Amino acid sequence: LLLGPVSFVMGAASLRDLPPDELPEIAFAGRSNVGKSSLINALTERGNLARVSNTPGRTQQLNFFRFADRMMMVDMPGYGYAEAPKAMVKAWQKMVFSYLRGRSNLARVYVLIDGRHGVKENDREVFKLLDDAAVSYQVVVTKADKEKAPVLAKRLQAIETELRRHVAAYPEVIVTSSRKMRGMETLRAAIARLLLE
Ligand code: GTP
Ligand code: MG
Repeated sequence: LLLGPVSFVMGAASLRDLPPDELPEIAFAGRSNVGKSSLINALTERGNLARVSNTPGRTQQLNFFRFADRMMMVDMPGYGYAEAPKAMVKAWQKMVFSYLRGRSNLARVYVLIDGRHGVKENDREVFKLLDDAAVSYQVVVTKADKEKAPVLAKRLQAIETELRRHVAAYPEVIVTSSRKMRGMETLRAAIARLLLE
């Protein structure tokens, strides 16, 4: 499914102009620069479906991609980017959080955590929000290529331990590298299973 036809539907700058909620939707959330847009490109094997940048704050809207009338995928602005103008950061965060809380067709959220940094305070806020809204989510570790295997293994364990306290979290964490195409098959399979539920 993810390697088949895909089309860009729209970028929504506010919750007033979201596309219809008739297809199951999966969203990619995470701190600025964690690699959300890169992961979408790697998963779909499209070089630049989603826009990637070295500068945090690249994705500024909710970008919707449709797969063969089966599913929507959403690339979201990052949260927690302190250097951008305060008002902008606040507006993005508000949009992302309200979307996550209120979108009725949201089948799962993938919360991305940088393999070098682990879970941060604003990630915990998102976990809590999704627990409270009873939205199922799964953690994806990104940029695995940037960390040595033993360090990464320890970090992974810490994340899994932390997730046990969260009711809506899927217990298993998927380790990825968009650069090395690691973990893509696992993540594609998880998404495919989800659509069968
Ligand atoms: P915002 O839209 O600004 O929130 O960022 P984002 O989460 O969409 O991150 P993006 O995909 O734009 O990637 C940010 C930076 O990290 C870019 O310079 C990417 O090339 C780099 N990056 C993303 N994934 C990986 C990875 O797996 N490995 C390495 N080494 N770099 C990565
Ligand atoms: Mg992005």
